Formats: sequence, structure tokens, C-alpha cells
Amino acid sequence: MFQNLVGRLACPRTRERLRFEAAPGVPAGDPVEGGTLVATASGHRYPIVRGIPRLLAADAPPRAGAVSTKAAFERQWRHYARLPRIFGKDPAEMARNLTNARIGARIRRDWYRGKWVLDAGCGHGRYLRAFADLGATAVGVDVGDGPERARVPLDDPRIHVVQGDVLHLPFASGAFDLAFCDGVLHHTPDPKAGFLELARVVKPGGAVYVWLYPKEAFLRETVFGAARAVTTRLPGALLRTLCFAIAPLTAAVRSYSGTKFPRASWGECAQVVHDWLAPPLQSHHTSEEVAGWAREAGLTLLEDLPVPVGVTAWKPA
Ligand SMILES: C[S@@+](CC[C@H](N)C(=O)[O-])C[C@H]1O[C@@H](n2cnc3c(N)ncnc32)[C@H](O)[C@@H]1O
Repeated sequence: MFQNLVGRLACPRTRERLRFEAAPGVPAGDPVEGGTLVATASGHRYPIVRGIPRLLAADAPPRAGAVSTKAAFERQWRHYARLPRIFGKDPAEMARNLTNARIGARIRRDWYRGKWVLDAGCGHGRYLRAFADLGATAVGVDVGDGPERARVPLDDPRIHVVQGDVLHLPFASGAFDLAFCDGVLHHTPDPKAGFLELARVVKPGGAVYVWLYPKEAFLRETVFGAARAVTTRLPGALLRTLCFAIAPLTAAVRSYSGTKFPRASWGECAQVVHDWLAPPLQSHHTSEEVAGWAREAGLTLLEDLPVPVGVTAWKPA
């Protein structure tokens, strides 16, 4: 973490601003390796460990499935974060997603320069460097330890990583120009609440981008629902073996990332299968539903993503 992040942080329980306290005997310069973030009025204190502020609202009782979903992703990134391509994409392909039709017509390459971008549910951090290379300061937040497993470069002043929950974002209202959230809200117990949080932390004139799993035809929903009822209960090692064994089936079964065997490696396909079969929390949505959340958040200029289902929408300036 670099200290210029502190002004954008907020207590995830009370939303008051935080103050940085250096650890005794540790030089207080950038990048910050350790120390404490303090909410002065409420007295809540949050540690910075290995350069990452840990801003989880630990007293909020975890909702059903949230703990095992976090653990499933931590296992996923522990085993797959070092693959050259995640969800079948290399860094150049990811960067393209941030400047092409996927992000919407109003955001182009030049837009990012000098902007602050939140990558909510950043996972192993595949988009953080791409945002930074476009000229933005990128802040990744994830509930799990994926980003540190992937060794996101914490000594790069253009990149910050925070451990926090998208349902209780540890950021001040209006802290970001863009809140980007790709494939995350459907793994939370309350996707709409997550969307409203994203809208809160965007400044007037800023944008929210969200992509979630679409609601599919009855047969596909039923078959995958039945399969996941079993796989989400399997022990981690057994599930990993299963995902590896069936990875070549991606040649025949459509995945949202387009990852297909043998164009993608066996390991890359196993990661995508694991992503689908492991997390207990997984919900599917319609574009009407997501557009309704955007309108409720007061956002305008709604643009459906070219792939179902998601939106880029703007907070009036
Ligand atoms: C399918 S991965 C997507 C990662 C990344 N957005 C990407 O596109 O590569 C979902 C990520 O969401 C994170 N996640 C799940 N629930 C979350 C929550 N409540 N708050 C923050 N992150 C969460 C998981 O830890 C996981 O890393």
C-alpha cells in the first residue's frame, strides 16, 4: 500500500475516514509494509499485513455460504494463479477488454489517464496491471488472499491491494472514477447490495461496470444446478482432481470466458471448470434485473454489455 490511498479508505462498519499509524520502530515511508488503520471516532482498528490493509468488518456475521465461497476461491488462486492465462486470457487480451465494446462506448484508452479505478473482487489481480498500464491508479479489493497468492506487485505505486468485502466496501463515498466488477457479485449472498455499494464509491461523473452470470435456459440451469449441488460439497483435493480430469470437456461445453480445450492448456481449462464447480454461492441474473439496480442507484446512460449479462452506467455529474 502507498499512503496516498489512505484518504480514499473508510471504515467498513461506520464509513468514517481512517488514519494511518506506523508500526513502532518501522520506517513510515512508502510502500507501507505494516502498521494500523484507525477509525478515530469508533475506535475500530485494522492491521496492514504484508503491505495489504485488512479491512474486513469482522463483527458482521458471515451470511450462509460466504465463508466456504471465500475458501473455494482462495484454493483456486493458490493452485492456478501462476498460469500464464487466467480465464483463457493473456494480459494483452485483458487490456483490450478495458478499451473495447465490453467496457462500453464512453470509455476509451485515453479516458483512464489520471483516474482512480476500483477492481472489486479482483481475484488473483489479472486486471490491476492492465488498468495501471492504461494510466490509472488501480485499487484491487478482494475478500480472500488471491492477490497476495498471485504476487501482485505491491511496490508499484500505480497499484494498491486491499482485503475487504464488496458488500461493505472499505472506501469513502465518491472515491473512484470507475468501479469495475467482473464476475463477482453473483458469488455474494446479496448481489444487489453489492451493486449499490459499487455505485456509492463512484464519484459524480464516474461509472460502474458490472458483469454477472446470465440466467440460462431451463435445461442448462437444471443440469448445472444438479452437478453443482454435488461438486460444491466435495473436499478440495477431490474436486481439484475432478476438475483436472474433466477439463477437456470444455471443448464441447460453452464457458463464459470462451476457454476451450485444446486451444487453452489443460491447466487453464481446469481453472475455468474449478471456477464454475467450486464456489457454493453462485446466482444467475437477467439484464432487466441489473438495469433495475442501476436505476435504483441513480445511475444513467445505461449500456448493456455486448455479452450477457451486465451494464456500464454513469453517476450524473
Ligand atoms: C470468479 S473470481 C473473478 C476475479 C476477477 N474479477 C477476474 O475477473 O479475474 C471471483 C472473485 O470474487 C471474490 N469475492 C467473492 N465474494 C466476494 C466479496 N463478498 N467481496 C469481495 N470479493 C469477493 C473471490 O474471492 C474471487 O477472487
